[in-house]
Amino acid sequence: MSIDLFTWSYYEKKIGWQDRNYNRRRQGIGAEAARLFTDHGAKVVIVDIQEELGQNVAVSIGKERASFYRCDITEETEVENAVTFTIEKHGKLDVLFSNAGILDPRGSILDLDLDRFDSIMAVNVRGAASFIKHAARVMVEKGTRGSILCTTSVSSEIGGGRRHGYTASKHGLLGLIRTACGELGKYGIRVNGVAPYALATPLTSNDEETAKQVEEEFAAKGVLKGVVLNAHHVAQVALFLASDESVYISGQNLAVDGGYSMCR
Ligand SMILES: NC(=O)c1ccc[n+]([C@@H]2O[C@H](COP(=O)([O-])OP(=O)(O)OC[C@H]3O[C@@H](n4cnc5c(N)ncnc54)[C@H](O)[C@@H]3O)[C@@H](O)[C@H]2O)c1
Repeated sequence: MSIDLFTWSYYEKKIGWQDRNYNRRRQGIGAEAARLFTDHGAKVVIVDIQEELGQNVAVSIGKERASFYRCDITEETEVENAVTFTIEKHGKLDVLFSNAGILDPRGSILDLDLDRFDSIMAVNVRGAASFIKHAARVMVEKGTRGSILCTTSVSSEIGGGRRHGYTASKHGLLGLIRTACGELGKYGIRVNGVAPYALATPLTSNDEETAKQVEEEFAAKGVLKGVVLNAHHVAQVALFLASDESVYISGQNLAVDGGYSMCR
């Protein structure tokens, strides 16, 4: 699931940090965030290019709390319309969780496919820029001290892995987070990144077997042993950054990586 736009009807001060549902772990980060945020009182507009998936997640949460808006984030007009839809439905926008991303295959820079490179930049950087622009506009217009979050990656801070387009895009996204933070602070708007280590989601695995392979490969390479990263862990950090619990945190790229980017 890609982009979630949230309005808070109320926010529970006490957050349950335990893993509650094993079956949800291998779904995408956005779908899990939509569930977790609504569990904590948010009204959510789920935005994604995959209509059936998005509708199903919204229906499973319930129409009082979640709705779906189909949008290709590489099209600025569609992004603007998604923000307008949210304002028409809920009256304001408190949180943007810009989470859409695509991955390139590992390969040599000597054979870099530049068309693929452009597509990755169009989603991972330009799409996020477009959403930040339009979400921030309505936050400023309405005087909302909002929270903007983007899912980066450990690949936003370190190289390696031979995914050149993805790594470049996530570094670019981090630059965007920092520059947006610098400008939007005067309106009380915070901008942060959430930087996960690798986990099994539809982005990295399309069946049970590849999901297990991803988990085993990255558990072996990871620094922190005995925990397998899942979407719920990442969504919990997004929830923290979205909420007033993190009221003076802005411009950060909070790693959810068990120390990998510090110690690898
Ligand atoms: N899975 C990992 O190992 C991992 C690690 C670090 C960071 N991330 C980041 O987490 C974020 C979420 O990924 P995920 O792992 O949950 O996978 P996912 O595939 O479930 O989520 C990505 C979503 O982005 C949507 N999307 C792609 N192109 C789009 C477009 N043009 N317009 C609208 N939506 C579009 C997809 O439909 C999909 O639902 C991504 O930004 C990814 O780079 C993932």
